[in-house]
Amino acid sequence: MPTLYDPLQLGDIALANRIVMAPLTRNRATGGVPTALMAEYYRQRASAGLIIAEASPISPMAQGYLDTPGIYSDAQVAAWRPVTDAVHAAGGRIVLQLWHVGRISHSSLLPGGAAPVSSTARPAPTKTFTKDGFVDVSTPRALDDAELPALVEDYRKAARNAIAAGFDGVEVHGANTYLLEQFLRDSVNDRNGPYGGPIPHRARLLLEVVRAVADEVGAGRTGLRLSPLTTFAAPLDSNPQALYGYVVEQVAPLGLAYLHIIEGETGGPRQPEGAPAFDYAALRRAFPGPWLVNNGYSGATAEAAVAAGAADAVAFGRPFISNPDLPRRLKSGAPLNELRADKLYGGGAEGYTDYPALA
Ligand code: PHB
Repeated sequence: MPTLYDPLQLGDIALANRIVMAPLTRNRATGGVPTALMAEYYRQRASAGLIIAEASPISPMAQGYLDTPGIYSDAQVAAWRPVTDAVHAAGGRIVLQLWHVGRISHSSLLPGGAAPVSSTARPAPTKTFTKDGFVDVSTPRALDDAELPALVEDYRKAARNAIAAGFDGVEVHGANTYLLEQFLRDSVNDRNGPYGGPIPHRARLLLEVVRAVADEVGAGRTGLRLSPLTTFAAPLDSNPQALYGYVVEQVAPLGLAYLHIIEGETGGPRQPEGAPAFDYAALRRAFPGPWLVNNGYSGATAEAAVAAGAADAVAFGRPFISNPDLPRRLKSGAPLNELRADKLYGGGAEGYTDYPALA
């Protein structure tokens, strides 16, 4: 069996090891455009087998938080280039997470003060971060079916932009109760017609997006992230096993670079209280490609998962924020730096690029 420190081929992307940096929102892209400080942050973390760069809005309407970096304008594409160049020069690989927040947004962040858009007109039970601090999200407008082809095209164009900016590929963000999961789950999606009701209808938008992105940049450069048991800003689906099982079965023939599964509550318990037991292994058996897992892994549990063949690679979130040289630390058993949680969202270099590497 391979170890966590062995190379891995993810579709068209060759990884030096199986330690992946998870996508992490850091809100340092002033005005939605990547910065030189971001290039330094990602360069520091280039010893990851793969960096999945932070969730990035695919259009102006896709944004839900202040200062997240977009991938829809020429200025953004140009400003991402120093980021991807810095990671490649340091021997790393980097893909971009394509994001539409759906109803998890605030009108002050959207063009012309528009209402956020979603599968539903019911607001999410959550807050978001704006120039006025944390505020309740705005009540969304339910998208008309006729608007969905243009939305799929926004994903396609964002994927093309990401490749033009030098990324090795893209990850479709189908997780954490953002737009695509607002269509997937019957706890949010209250539509009728081709995009509401039975599972194949609720999964239609996600599958159209994945197929369009894979068609645009190649399936071997396209990953997908799912979070069957996350209740971040929406309740669980009434039957997660059937819903996500269907999604995996549908994407299985596409030849995607990887599937990325958040096990349990994102950033929280792997078996959330009140959540049904979930058979991740059944999903994996239905998917022929590389299997990437995430959520609460330590070096030891990650090594065990890869050694047992339960995963091909393991993504680390918060440990990668505070340890730019995480692979070296895991391999040597060196202690990890403490996370400064008050520096996660927004600000400058402090708690961002000033975490020390081992001497
Ligand atoms: C966040 O900004 O809190 C956030 C962003 C993307 C996620 C999850 C959380 O997938």
